[in-house]
Amino acid sequence: MQYSAYYVEENDGVFSASISRLELEKPADGFVQIKVSHSSLNYKDALSASGNKGVTRNYPFVPGIDAAGTITDANSSQFSEGDEVIVTGYDMGMNTPGGFGEFINVPATWVVKKPNNLTHLESMSIGTAGLTAAASVFKIHESAMESDLPVLVSGATGGVGSIGVMLMSKLGKEVSALTGKSSSVDFLKSIGATNIILRDEYLEAPAKAMERPLFSSAIDTVGGKILSKMLAQISPHGVVACCGNVAGIEVNTTVFPFILRGISLCGIDSAESPLDFKTSIWEKFANEWKLDLSTSTKIIAKQNLQQEIDLILQGGQEGRVVISHEE
Ligand SMILES: NC(=O)c1ccc[n+]([C@@H]2O[C@H](COP(=O)([O-])OP(=O)(O)OC[C@H]3O[C@@H](n4cnc5c(N)ncnc54)[C@H](OP(=O)(O)O)[C@@H]3O)[C@@H](O)[C@H]2O)c1
Repeated sequence: MQYSAYYVEENDGVFSASISRLELEKPADGFVQIKVSHSSLNYKDALSASGNKGVTRNYPFVPGIDAAGTITDANSSQFSEGDEVIVTGYDMGMNTPGGFGEFINVPATWVVKKPNNLTHLESMSIGTAGLTAAASVFKIHESAMESDLPVLVSGATGGVGSIGVMLMSKLGKEVSALTGKSSSVDFLKSIGATNIILRDEYLEAPAKAMERPLFSSAIDTVGGKILSKMLAQISPHGVVACCGNVAGIEVNTTVFPFILRGISLCGIDSAESPLDFKTSIWEKFANEWKLDLSTSTKIIAKQNLQQEIDLILQGGQEGRVVISHEE
């Protein structure tokens, strides 16, 4: 049997993608085969699709770090045919073919049973971006001291950022959204941001070692100069959840925010989080953290992926992109 997939090939160092028919293999011992109904587009997928060897070592390859669907062949006692499931992260979409194909074969240890009150589409509107935003919210709730100052979210219109804004707002926090898109002010307000800060204005003045505290905590999806600057603006015993690097991998700071204000810089790695942690986040998204992502999610066919990949690489996406394999 064959299946259809967004297939990236390398020829003489040039990467190109096509919708191809591939041979479906039986799942190995301990693996399950899933008919994918929906996947989603994350920044890492765009890197894999464009030949970034730090993400995907060998091509040809089918990207897609997120998948939701139904088990069609279970070579593991943990699952049965017909189970509705979600897979995010681990090696899927990096070096194990992922959700941009209509079928995946993955270890059962990567698979979460989909909560009943989330559809496949809803779960992929959340996807790895949502798990990352949720893990950041957990870090902040676990360790940050209460403060009336707003929470700052950078890269606020992006996948992780927009869900971070929504979650913080749902939890009753005032949210300052830092964005490069002046045209997205209404969007950011509609998802719960109370104050919009434009990136160019934020970066106008160079970062100082210590500044007046403006934010209680922060979710930083971009790194670089923005992360460097916000560290000096967090109020005592606040937390900065560091999860992304679209603006750069370097951070310039001093020890002052840490030793004079006791702030914490916490790393987030949602892909490799233990399955129990992912399961508990999916339960939250299905219940008390349920979000309406319908107006911030674009649903596309895999034939239209290339333009969305180009847009995410340019920092131009607003909200989430879900790939539907349903005809
Ligand atoms: N640690 C983890 O577990 C984990 C998991 C998922 C994602 N990530 C990382 O998180 C980051 C965001 O991922 P995503 O899927 O949300 O991507 P995304 O949808 O493209 O969002 C990134 C957003 O960052 C802003 N941005 C883009 N280029 C920028 C630049 N040069 N300087 C400053 N801001 C810029 C843009 O928002 P505005 O225009 O609103 O500023 C953009 O929409 C990526 O680095 C990704 O690798 C990490």
